[in-house]
Amino acid sequence: MIIKPMIRNNICLNSHPTGCFAVVKRQIELAKKELRPVEGTPKLVLVVGCSTGYGLASRIAAGFGYGAATVGISLEKPASETKPGTPGYYNNSAFDREAAAAGLQSVSLDGDAFSNEMKDRTVEAIKKVAAAAKIEAKIDLVIYSLASPVRTDPKTGIMHRSVIKPIGKSYSGKTIDMMTGTISTASAESATDEEIANTVKVMGGEDWELWIEALSKAGVLSSKVKTAAYTYLGPELSWPIYKNGTIGRAKEDLERAGKAINAKLSASGGAAWVSVNKALVTRASAVIPIIPFYVSCLFKEMKEKGIHEGCIEQIIRLYRDRLYAAATTSDPKKVPVDSEGRIRIDDWEMREDVQKDTLARMGKVTEENIFELSDIAGFKHDFLEAHGFDVPGVDYDADVRSL
Ligand SMILES: NC(=O)c1ccc[n+]([C@@H]2O[C@H](COP(=O)([O-])OP(=O)(O)OC[C@H]3O[C@@H](n4cnc5c(N)ncnc54)[C@H](O)[C@@H]3O)[C@@H](O)[C@H]2O)c1
Repeated sequence: MIIKPMIRNNICLNSHPTGCFAVVKRQIELAKKELRPVEGTPKLVLVVGCSTGYGLASRIAAGFGYGAATVGISLEKPASETKPGTPGYYNNSAFDREAAAAGLQSVSLDGDAFSNEMKDRTVEAIKKVAAAAKIEAKIDLVIYSLASPVRTDPKTGIMHRSVIKPIGKSYSGKTIDMMTGTISTASAESATDEEIANTVKVMGGEDWELWIEALSKAGVLSSKVKTAAYTYLGPELSWPIYKNGTIGRAKEDLERAGKAINAKLSASGGAAWVSVNKALVTRASAVIPIIPFYVSCLFKEMKEKGIHEGCIEQIIRLYRDRLYAAATTSDPKKVPVDSEGRIRIDDWEMREDVQKDTLARMGKVTEENIFELSDIAGFKHDFLEAHGFDVPGVDYDADVRSL
């Protein structure tokens, strides 16, 4: 089968197995180059939402950078006779294959992370992986990196759906079609109270708390476990739709959960953080109004200034310069945080000169000059790459025999 990308409205409907494998391999090489296991770096790591974007990079950096045994949870669709599987399906299999070749223990579980059943399966997988790695079955890092449109509450059985909407008044912002460079206006009506509550249910911190509780009850958490979940703040122009909108409410709840988890874990020397990450092109971020337009201009600035990063570079910095900066003392107080206690690896994105120049650039971009003045080409490349397309060195005219 010859596989070409099928894209509708900034959503890619298929993926390329060979390309996904190549992208995972490239991230592995970078993690191996930039990170070294030392006393205090993690040996057994759980990543919830491990298959794409920030979660995949978090797993690769832990496994190949620190030599950790890893358990990864994600929700994927395998290939059918006629259609490739999801990108995460190939990324997981690339990860497991490369891990096995490198002598690293790994288990990837496919299913609903929000369910009690998956939490039970994970505990078993942790024990299995630890036994194979000949280490104690005590997780020392939990990364929570889910991005999901829906969640079924395990207590009530009710399925909640998240929305990306402003709160209090409607919102209109420029958006771009990354394939054509067409600029249009995307509008969203103000969310109802029910929509806000549902989004908090899906993308808030309740499930992160349930994960830590389940792992703690099962006795598979190290007393000094570290856990982190990811958030985004972004520039003021995106606040009506992001930080002050439904998703921002959910992220406020994630911060609440982070503090609650931290209070519980810190009694034994563990700690929890919310890390504010940079805006990147992942499958989740391409469909948020204004974000593709902003990101295209931001990337141009950050590349020109020599400070551009992708998921893996961000996570390498999160581990090396934040979470494990003080690995030898493993004193959680040594992790650099902002006044709210959050880790900031969006620091380069939010630098005053980067923001000022990005906003000025956004004011100048038109459909006529968009390919010159913005990095829409880079945005499109990253988006395609997240699905295994447009990866250097991959022959896209070659027949893909096994899906
Ligand atoms: N992309 C950005 O620009 C950005 C910036 C800052 C913070 N973040 C945050 O980082 C986190 C990860 O986002 P991303 O952009 O990497 O997303 P992504 O879509 O690339 O990855 C989401 C992961 O969650 C998994 N998943 C979704 N629903 C699941 C379910 N029910 N059960 C099991 N697994 C499930 C997917 O399989 C995938 O592994 C989110 O909290 C997001 O808000 C993203």
